[in-house]
Amino acid sequence: MTSDHSALGVDRGLTSYGDLGFSRFLRRAFLASAGFDAEDLDRPVVGIADTSSDYTTCHRDMPELVAAVRRGVLQAGGLPLVFPSMSLPEILLNPTSMLFRNLDAMVTEELLRAQPMDAAVLVGGCDKTVPAQLMAAVSAGIPAVSLVAGPMLTSTFRGQRLGACTDCRSMWAQHRAGDLASDDIAEVQTALATTAGTCMVMGTASTMACIVEAMGLALPGSATAPAPTGDRLRAGTAAGRVAVSLATGGPPMASLVTPDSLHNALVVLCAIGGSTNAVVHLLAIARRAGVPLELDEFARVSQQVPVIADLKPAGAGYLEDLHRAGGVPALLTVLRPHLRLDAAVVEGGTIGDRLKTARPPSVGTTTIRPLTEPVKPAGGLAVVRGSLAPYGAVIKVAAATPALLTHEAPVVVFESPEDVAARIDDPRLPISADTILVMRNAGPVGAGMPEAGSFPIPRRLAAQGVRDMVRISDARMSGTAYGTVVLHVSPEAAIGGPLALVRDGDRVRLDAGAGVLNLLVTGEELALRRSEWRPPAKPPTGWKRLSADHVLQANEGADLDLWDAAATPAAPAPEVPPGSLAVNAPLESAKE
Ligand code: FES
Repeated sequence: MTSDHSALGVDRGLTSYGDLGFSRFLRRAFLASAGFDAEDLDRPVVGIADTSSDYTTCHRDMPELVAAVRRGVLQAGGLPLVFPSMSLPEILLNPTSMLFRNLDAMVTEELLRAQPMDAAVLVGGCDKTVPAQLMAAVSAGIPAVSLVAGPMLTSTFRGQRLGACTDCRSMWAQHRAGDLASDDIAEVQTALATTAGTCMVMGTASTMACIVEAMGLALPGSATAPAPTGDRLRAGTAAGRVAVSLATGGPPMASLVTPDSLHNALVVLCAIGGSTNAVVHLLAIARRAGVPLELDEFARVSQQVPVIADLKPAGAGYLEDLHRAGGVPALLTVLRPHLRLDAAVVEGGTIGDRLKTARPPSVGTTTIRPLTEPVKPAGGLAVVRGSLAPYGAVIKVAAATPALLTHEAPVVVFESPEDVAARIDDPRLPISADTILVMRNAGPVGAGMPEAGSFPIPRRLAAQGVRDMVRISDARMSGTAYGTVVLHVSPEAAIGGPLALVRDGDRVRLDAGAGVLNLLVTGEELALRRSEWRPPAKPPTGWKRLSADHVLQANEGADLDLWDAAATPAAPAPEVPPGSLAVNAPLESAKE
């Protein structure tokens, strides 16, 4: 080990006291108090971002995983320094973890930059932690490898296999419909999430884990190893070893976020029937890396790549099944014709190099299907635009009811997620199974974009057997959810998007196949309504105010505009030409 005074390892970024020698002396004096000597302190430093938290139950095994990473770093000759990083417990944050993704990215970026380290292992997992960490590392310009907590293992309820959280939703829907008694749902509550780990269906956490591995930002096989297994710990040790090689001249993470790696991300997103949340996160990550990525690219790739992973909510299996079938490496062997093989990966080499040693799906497993026998045909993710969503909206076709994908009906409008909760079961509302339900003021500016888009079917209709209706909002939807749900409508209602102008009884037309979402109201009428519209009040102080002032729209990744000098504030709502009937006629601004 070298003992020179170059600005590497613990000597990076010295604390400012106006005397560099003193700063270095003082830093080493305090590190000595932690038992480190020159043998330790002259090693390359690997910072380990630890998102353990009692609140983030998905990460409750993370201390053991972090210990495995430490072991790998030490084995490879580095100095591991673990630091607590912001943790985002999906289920325990109010109002929504998405409101804090950008704050987490900001905090993590500054910790990566301000603390001395030559490379980092980003240990995340629960939904927003992984995209936040990637955004942070890309902006911090540091070499880094991503490592996820791994999925939970499944459990059973009276012989039925259960997993979080697609089954959380289906079981709760049965309870709301009167098919599952209170005692039963209490029993289900203890059987949905029984081990450490992230939700074990293809929700957002699993989607991001698979995508990050496919982008080459995590090691092969690391996305799917269940949290309680030795495979997971081995993935941790391997990440620690690789991080040391990154610390001695590896590329910054940003250089791995390229048009090719993002293309591969989109291919995998479509093949796994992944969460629509990944659309927002990938747009944000690409934007941070300066790689142009448009919403329409998701639809284009989706038209070419079928869903071949048989996983809930689009299919039937769980993440442990995917891992048994060979995980992402095996999936990529099947997807090879769609991949860009020259995309560089974190351990050096390319995705094509990884495929040289990857095995095809394990014999006797069916979770990864051949391209010719997909779970769902190509087109599992659609982008819709029109007079109701000039900048676009998304719909997970793979998790929708086919008969509702082309639908025209009058709407009932809810002002917010709270309004839905208060009124959705009101028997006086003129709602039938055909009604389109609209919710607004749940976009990035309006509410931090909660996962409120798959709001419940009115109880009386659920009791009649109605299981799906068209729902439209500027909110997001959990990756574990399902239904004919149009999400991320942009521009959102809170900044005056057309969604703000919809009224009860208006007709809306959805044609997911044609990519159309139109509000069938005349331009004169919309102009009148716009003149009467007033924006909702923003939060007065703090992070919520900062976010509301700077967050971009969903079609731009809902990142803050602070990371790009060329970025513009949230776009104003486009005008509807007076006198026009806004039917099948997307506005000019929608064609950007
Ligand atoms: Fe943590 Fe689902 S709640 S991943």
